Amino acid sequence: MLNTVIIGTQWGDEGKGKIVDLLSEHADYVVRFQGGNNAGHTMVVNGKTIISHLIPSGILQKKKCFIGNGVVVDPFVLLDEIDYLVSNQVDVSPDMLKVSSRAHLIMPYHKEIDNAREDKKGDKKIGTTGRGIGPCYEDKATRRGIRFCDLMDLDLLKEKISTILEEKNFYLEHYFHAAPLDQDLVINDILQIRDRLLPYIADVSVALHQGSTKGKTLLFEGAQGTHLDIEHGTYPFVTSSSTVAGNAAGGAGVGPNLLNQILGIVKAYTTRVGEGPFPTELFDETGDKIQKTGAEFGATTGRKRRCGWLDMVMIKNAARLNSLTGLVITKMDVLDDLDEIKICTAYQYNGSTIPDFPPDIKTLEHCTPLYETHPGWKQKTSDFTDYADLPDNAKKYLERITQLSGVPVKIISVGPGREATIIKEAI
Ligand code: GDP
Ligand code: IMO
Ligand code: MG
Repeated sequence: MLNTVIIGTQWGDEGKGKIVDLLSEHADYVVRFQGGNNAGHTMVVNGKTIISHLIPSGILQKKKCFIGNGVVVDPFVLLDEIDYLVSNQVDVSPDMLKVSSRAHLIMPYHKEIDNAREDKKGDKKIGTTGRGIGPCYEDKATRRGIRFCDLMDLDLLKEKISTILEEKNFYLEHYFHAAPLDQDLVINDILQIRDRLLPYIADVSVALHQGSTKGKTLLFEGAQGTHLDIEHGTYPFVTSSSTVAGNAAGGAGVGPNLLNQILGIVKAYTTRVGEGPFPTELFDETGDKIQKTGAEFGATTGRKRRCGWLDMVMIKNAARLNSLTGLVITKMDVLDDLDEIKICTAYQYNGSTIPDFPPDIKTLEHCTPLYETHPGWKQKTSDFTDYADLPDNAKKYLERITQLSGVPVKIISVGPGREATIIKEAI
């Protein structure tokens, strides 16, 4: 396999975890490059479900895993996740996992501020995961963040935390009327876990370069999705990182010529967790049916996911923004029972057709999807492992996706398990 980047093309939860787990068999190193524990990536292996929020989904395939500089890491969640995986007989020793010394730490005040902001916004909230992601990236951008390398120098660490807490506590107390955080407690909590964290810290950029020079294959695991990207998504209803393929280089610390193949993960329909516009959202029985059949509940927050038809305006947008070289269509089996399946091919806005995804949500909110209707295949697909065996109408649906996006479908997923997969074209 070539070095490969896995990218969500929609609003997250496309099934990236399953595909990364699957393709990790052919990789040596698996790397997260952005986001944090707002992600929830599900792997189902031998009937057992494992959800990871921070540790790359290559860990079950016993591949070396890396958390790049572009990721924001809640150190307490990281250690809990290591414990959870170890209790499931997964090796997560420091030989198997490295965290970039340049990655920023999500601190307790980030979570407090994330939640206080959402509460204050009321019905104008973004619907964040409440994990402190935005406030942590904010401190990174304003150059006040705490990085893993800061854990090496205790005096400097204490000084940094003390300086920043003064400001955070002022903000919490006087703007949100919330309780301030106790400085000694914040520092002590970090010191308690510091010794466990130290062996995991490394210069990930250097490690990836050394591996790559020796011919190791890299697999980059995107989190969230293209339309949650801070630049290109449905701003402000987005996450706070760059989720597109280009950032796999910056967020891992490698040059872009190491990104050889970019696979876009496309759920066979669309879902969204949290607030924000969603042109093809269904509010009827079909939407409920898809939600139930697809078990569409968030893997991080447990929230019900909003469901709708496949939106090819979005997929075309993702194809361009990420230079997708192939598509992986997931959750095909969820559509097995439907009589008819719709695909949105363009939007209608103010009486004219717009083919491209608009930059502002005001326009998007007033876009009406233009649909074409396809007959369902009305057949169980979850046992198929050969493309040739798929029902004709399922093949036509997939062919139409390729036609509309200009990107070949390479893998089709027909169930949550690693084995429920059809490899149409070699990766
Ligand atoms: P991610 O965030 O992109 O990794 O996706 P999530 O893990 O949050 O959500 C995808 C959900 O769909 C998980 O519960 C997966 O186990 C499940 N899943 C993945 N692929 C398939 C599939 O082809 N069919 C079905 N029925 N479920 C799938
Ligand atoms: P994976 O990697 C789906 C959404 C949140 C919210 C918005 C901002 O599992 O696909 P944040 O906490 O990031 O500031 O929240 O982004 N969101 C996700 N939705 N899948 C995810 O990750 C998400 N990560 C964040 O619901 O709308
Ligand atoms: Mg998820």
